[in-house]
Amino acid sequence: MTKEFDGKVALVTAAGAGIGAATARAFAQRGARVMLADIDEESGSGMAATLREEGAEAQFVRCDAMQEADIAHAVNQTVSQLGRLDLAANVVGDSIGDANGPDMHLKSVEGWDATFGICIRSTFLCLKHEIAHMIEHGGGAIVNVSSLAGLVYVPESGAAYSSAKAGLIQLTKFAAVTYAERGVRVNCIAPGVTPTRAYYKRGPEAAQAQISRMVDRQAIKRAIGVEEQAAAIAWLCSDESAMVTGHLMPVDGGWAAH
Ligand SMILES: NC(=O)c1ccc[n+]([C@@H]2O[C@H](COP(=O)([O-])OP(=O)(O)OC[C@H]3O[C@@H](n4cnc5c(N)ncnc54)[C@H](O)[C@@H]3O)[C@@H](O)[C@H]2O)c1
Repeated sequence: MTKEFDGKVALVTAAGAGIGAATARAFAQRGARVMLADIDEESGSGMAATLREEGAEAQFVRCDAMQEADIAHAVNQTVSQLGRLDLAANVVGDSIGDANGPDMHLKSVEGWDATFGICIRSTFLCLKHEIAHMIEHGGGAIVNVSSLAGLVYVPESGAAYSSAKAGLIQLTKFAAVTYAERGVRVNCIAPGVTPTRAYYKRGPEAAQAQISRMVDRQAIKRAIGVEEQAAAIAWLCSDESAMVTGHLMPVDGGWAAH
């Protein structure tokens, strides 16, 4: 049976866990050969092995998305090991140090810079190297991962993360318009409450309390699955969305709608 991504090659950052891992699986299940990039060798190579056991062609490359040489290497490895690069999901992003929480007058500049770096710099570096390859080799489709916090006030997320994720939306639009006529589409999703290990940094009880508090602010009052974020990314990379570029798609249970 033919699949929609048969013959295509995808690169996914942050592919060792959470939304990135689910995205790598979604691409693989739709027929793509997948390069999983992550700073954490154990989880990234483990996820690649899991996908191979599930019948996919999947490889792992260690990559710190903050380092330009690592991103360039990840793109080169994708092309040399899997033959091409058609699809990319730039999933790396986080809130670092003391950046979480509403009281921005108490926050450090180090947390601000680190959070902007992991959200914006990493995505810029990915776009730069992915696009450079795609415009020379028949185009492609890229999805960045913003956040609901880039759209509406989410006090838990903090000023740095919210501002960086808002900036990522404009970075997406800028790239989309610049490269539209050169065959590259660029879109982004804005996830709502999607429980991953990022929530569990302060322990299971605090995580559960935060998840139920936040889910209550969604219109659809349940947590979102990582595979639901991955399905949106896959659709934005598919031919079905051929006329969609520069788009921000909230996958947030309707939070941003009210
Ligand atoms: N989970 C949510 O509810 C939610 C909501 C909105 C936005 N997001 C965004 O979704 C994306 C993924 O979040 P998640 O919750 O799946 O995260 P996660 O914590 O489950 O996984 C993050 C992965 O990124 C990897 N990573 C961290 N730093 C890296 C780096 N410098 N280079 C390469 N890999 C690195 C980690 O090793 C890990 O495998 C992030 O951009 C996040 O801001 C998540």
